[in-house]
Amino acid sequence: MATTVLIGAQWGDEGKGKVIDFLARDAKWVVRFQGGNNAGHTVKPGGETYVLHLIPSGILHEGKRCVIGNGVVVDPLALLREIEELRAKGIESLGRLFVSDRCHLIYPWHRMIDECREKQRDDKTKIGTTKRGIGPAYSDKAARVGLRMADMVDPAYEAMLMKTLQETACALKAMGAEEIDIKAVAAEQLAVAKALAPFVTDTIPLLNEAVKNGEEILLEGAQGTMLDIDFGTYPFVTSSNASAGGACTGTGISPARITRVIGTIKAYTTRVGTGPFPTELHDDTGKLLGSRGREFGATTGRPRRCGWFDAVVARYSAAVNGIDYWAMTKLDVMDTLPVIRICVAYECDGKRLEHVPANIRMLERCKPVYEEMPGWQEPTEHIRTFDGLPEKAKNYVNRLCELTSVQLGLLSIGPGRDSTIRIAI
Ligand code: GDP
Ligand code: IMO
Ligand code: MG
Repeated sequence: MATTVLIGAQWGDEGKGKVIDFLARDAKWVVRFQGGNNAGHTVKPGGETYVLHLIPSGILHEGKRCVIGNGVVVDPLALLREIEELRAKGIESLGRLFVSDRCHLIYPWHRMIDECREKQRDDKTKIGTTKRGIGPAYSDKAARVGLRMADMVDPAYEAMLMKTLQETACALKAMGAEEIDIKAVAAEQLAVAKALAPFVTDTIPLLNEAVKNGEEILLEGAQGTMLDIDFGTYPFVTSSNASAGGACTGTGISPARITRVIGTIKAYTTRVGTGPFPTELHDDTGKLLGSRGREFGATTGRPRRCGWFDAVVARYSAAVNGIDYWAMTKLDVMDTLPVIRICVAYECDGKRLEHVPANIRMLERCKPVYEEMPGWQEPTEHIRTFDGLPEKAKNYVNRLCELTSVQLGLLSIGPGRDSTIRIAI
């Protein structure tokens, strides 16, 4: 039995939700460990499409236990909304969704500050956040002034909330933000606290007991390695560790208990929001990937920027996450391309670079060094074995694995559960 970490190896939206949903058949637990409702994980188990923001993608499988780990920042209003939306579709979370009492809370003013900060920036320095209050909530956590789920279910919560609200109202005024109606916000938060209380628990013993009993656990990353606060294209990143290390600090499961790491990776690259993207395409091929791949943000609806596969990013991701297998997605989106390019290195200031530079200005100057492969120009969505793929498609996938020194565990050739080829995981 395995404790598997699944992360995004690029800039998010690699298809983590689809892959988790596919693997969840064999798991007992599915656990989110960082981020918040900035995530949008799409799952198509049958005819219907579900987009999950906070609740782990395993919830659609009857009987699976889902955990929101301590590393996640939770907007109580967004969580309750998601629970109710699922309930309306006949999926009950109570009794199988467990929310860590150590999770920090996102309040309306975190969203307001997020928006304010973005407004103050110009087009070049704007991060293009999801405006869900993620950065300000993690800032409060680091500044040791945040409130947590454990506070939310404490009898003294009302007093704590009022104190925070009064302090925040002053700070918001100074920022020039909209005034908040303290009474209305407090009433709303107290009501939601009551509704969520049955979900809140200490998830650390729960998960460690599961590990001890050898139960199958899937740790579901949000965002991607290039959006990680430490390893990503800082400052154009999110505010948490979206890489594999975050799975331990965000759940209380020891690194010694992780048995494998799966990297979800698209067969090309996308990014939503601002920041450097060396292989971005501004031409018809970029548009084609965007339209065939339906590349619109699952949370904000913004169009995603599209480009060729970047093996420099993929190798870096494989290293910092210790990726054992790729779960490669969206190969079918490339079905019509006559020629495909792969970025194998960068050229910067006249020198060849094999690694992602930390200096953001330098990364902006990086030009991709490409190698070319012929496209297969045949549909692949209906294919169910790796051997059944067109020869040129196999060559492309094999080349990506060779360039990154990671073996293929799973290949996805469509958004549905069935459009999946299981290879080694
Ligand atoms: P996540 O955030 O990593 O879970 O990814 P998103 O759900 O935000 O974005 C992935 C999008 O691609 C969703 O619309 C999925 O339904 C879709 N998708 C996932 N795998 C495949 C695939 O193999 N082929 C195609 N065509 N679409 C896919
Ligand atoms: P999933 O889990 C893609 C991006 C935002 C912005 C930056 C910071 O669906 O892959 P934030 O709101 O987190 O402060 O925004 O991170 N971003 C994502 N991009 N997929 C996501 O999640 C993302 N979550 C945040 O667009 O550039
Ligand atoms: Mg997404």
